Amino acid sequence: MTNNKYLEPGARSAELYERARAVMPGGNTRTTVYSAPYPAYVASASGATVTDVEGQTRLDFVNNYTALIHGHAHPRILDAVSRQLTLGTAVSFPTETEVRLAELLVDRVDSIERLRFTNSGTEAVMMAVQAARAFTGRQKVARFEGCYHGAYDYAEDVLLPFNQPEADGRILAEHLGELAAVLVDPLPHRPGFIDPIAGFLPRLREITRELGIVLISDEIISFRLGYAGPQERYGYQADLTTLGKIIGGGFPVGAFGGRAEIMNTFDPSRSGSHLTHGGTFNGNPVTMVAGYESMAMLTPAEFDRLAALGDRVRVGLANIIEARGLSWQVTGQASLFKLHGHPRKLVDYRSSLMTEAERSAVEKFYMAMLGEGFILTPDLCGAVSTPMTAQNIDDMIAAADRVFAT
Ligand SMILES: Cc1ncc(COP(=O)(O)O)c(C=O)c1O
Repeated sequence: MTNNKYLEPGARSAELYERARAVMPGGNTRTTVYSAPYPAYVASASGATVTDVEGQTRLDFVNNYTALIHGHAHPRILDAVSRQLTLGTAVSFPTETEVRLAELLVDRVDSIERLRFTNSGTEAVMMAVQAARAFTGRQKVARFEGCYHGAYDYAEDVLLPFNQPEADGRILAEHLGELAAVLVDPLPHRPGFIDPIAGFLPRLREITRELGIVLISDEIISFRLGYAGPQERYGYQADLTTLGKIIGGGFPVGAFGGRAEIMNTFDPSRSGSHLTHGGTFNGNPVTMVAGYESMAMLTPAEFDRLAALGDRVRVGLANIIEARGLSWQVTGQASLFKLHGHPRKLVDYRSSLMTEAERSAVEKFYMAMLGEGFILTPDLCGAVSTPMTAQNIDDMIAAADRVFAT
């Protein structure tokens, strides 16, 4: 039983999906937003809510996969973008807007001395890898099993287990002559925001430094952990960092940056050869002004408020799970959270895998929450946004409790 109007006979979403199927494979242009039998189509979004074409409004804990930390159509971002729209949306020259956002980011993250913008997180990771390859003269990339770094497939990966520094050190040493970089998501999102064990990231930093391998910290989601991001929180300094999502204020964005010595491989003013990095919309002023406003509003106090709301979600969900004696658990830090449909200890990708029955319970929960008016990702990740209130969160927890009761 669900209260999702978009699944009822004659729904406009079904009609739109049929039209989409005739022109896009499976009606889809972004795999992430497909859900069976077809997704709800959205008409508008404002603040913490999203309204579908059936007129059903839901509280949005996905925020375009954590990108819209200020929710939808934030007035301050709308103002900045509207002003910029009249001044030009993209030109074949640099603008002050890119300088302002770059200054803000370099100022916040100690290890970023120089950075460049891209149009997506995927591109940011690709360019960081390219920088590491040019800098080291080596080709391969090591990354952690089951972690997501964008829509690009690294064919020649070396896979590492998360949270096992000594095993990682051994594997890296075995491939030393071929490895350009280690790519790490400090709070890996795909396996479900699994906490790095104490000292893991600083140890990984030491190992990569000793072996002369470039450490790339992929913070495309986890940059929202705090004012200076995860490196400050977990006590390490990467050689390169990739950013995206919140730094674009709701518009397409990515950035990669780090040690000047490495980033200067892209410097077109220096004599001799340099890496080229084009991109028709890199640093486009619409994204840059939106991103600047988004980041400027994120003061340390605002991050604290978001983290308190995140705690309210995690504690609230954990309490109902315990009260009902369910074999579920909650992970996450700061504004991020995820529900897992099993009770096993989570340390890496393998420990996050679910049985068929557990997966189907998660799918049912997702649909039922959608019917209750709350949007989580289909694998039950969520993020709180600045327009949310404590009441919004308590309402979501009460809905989760009703869903667990059925
Ligand atoms: C850790 C991480 N890296 C890279 C990406 C890719 O970013 P984009 O979807 O902007 O290409 C994502 C997207 O979710 C991500 O979570």
